[in-house]
Amino acid sequence: MKLLVTGGAGFIGSNFVRYWLAKYPGDYVVNFDVLTYSGNLENLAEIQNNPRYSFIKGDLRNMADVEAAMSGVDIVVHFAAETHVDRSLFAAGDFITSNILGTQILCEAAAKHHVTRFHYISTDEVYGELPLNSTQKFTQDTPFDPRNQYSASKASAEHFVRAYYHTHHLPITITNCTNNFGPYQHPEKFIPLFITNLLQGKKVPIYGDGLNIRDWLYVVDHCRAVDLVIRKGVIGKSYLVGAQHKEISNLELTHKLLKLLGKDDSSIEFVTDRPAHDHRYAVDWSKIAALGWQPEHDLDTWLAATVDWYKTHRDWWQRVKSGDYLKYYDRVYGHRS
Ligand code: TYD
Repeated sequence: MKLLVTGGAGFIGSNFVRYWLAKYPGDYVVNFDVLTYSGNLENLAEIQNNPRYSFIKGDLRNMADVEAAMSGVDIVVHFAAETHVDRSLFAAGDFITSNILGTQILCEAAAKHHVTRFHYISTDEVYGELPLNSTQKFTQDTPFDPRNQYSASKASAEHFVRAYYHTHHLPITITNCTNNFGPYQHPEKFIPLFITNLLQGKKVPIYGDGLNIRDWLYVVDHCRAVDLVIRKGVIGKSYLVGAQHKEISNLELTHKLLKLLGKDDSSIEFVTDRPAHDHRYAVDWSKIAALGWQPEHDLDTWLAATVDWYKTHRDWWQRVKSGDYLKYYDRVYGHRS
């Protein structure tokens, strides 16, 4: 089997490439990535010489690049996306071209090449937000209600993926996953930002009152979910993927990180809230449970393992945190503190 993984140099994509090569010794993986600020080939350094792996630097918005990569491909797993909500508020155009146009071009090429599966990595954020202090959960039937430029672009792309299923019989499946954490996550995101700031002796910026709730899934569990849906999912359907632990507020999660890193509340800095900050995400993942999946990694153990990973991979995140990242940091936090 030959897989084309888009965005394989990003956080979840690189974890998925590693996972797939280890699990399926007969398969070949092509990693297609444009290497923007969040794509980093260092994430895959240990497999770069694997004979069952190759890398193509290409842009999803360029049909010629995509067509060249599609040759002989059986399965497309589409991770590539601009993913950071805070960036999307300032740079919506990048989210529209990468996430929507890029997805449409990939669908077009995949349909033309008659791939046996096109798996789209979506997000629970397409459903908008849930109220705090409720037990409601998103399901596959929850109407889309994206509230920021990132989730709007993912929702739009998801509609295009479904449109190619209906009009071109593209054999699609979709997963809508909750927040991920684990190794190689870019330090613009909450957990790695907070860990690395604390390791640098800096404060951690909590938006608003810190009571927003997220449901954190260890990245390997997400990879297992995608794997299962590719093998056993029903064509044309989407599957929600969530974590096993109780949902947790940003403030509670921050306290766990402070404890793991031997810090106290004096390291917390409350900053102006993100505009339209979604209050709560929670997903009902019973549909994928019926296929035989459940999360295997609990938050406390794997948060500690993730902290250890960042402690032992200082070179990796220090390189990522310099350069473009710093300019971005000033832009987002400069007017918030
Ligand atoms: P993030 O990792 O950006 O994921 P998402 O917004 O897609 O859920 O943020 C996770 C939560 O942490 C979210 O509620 C916003 C909050 N947050 C902060 O409080 N401070 C920060 O500096 C960042 C990046 C996020």
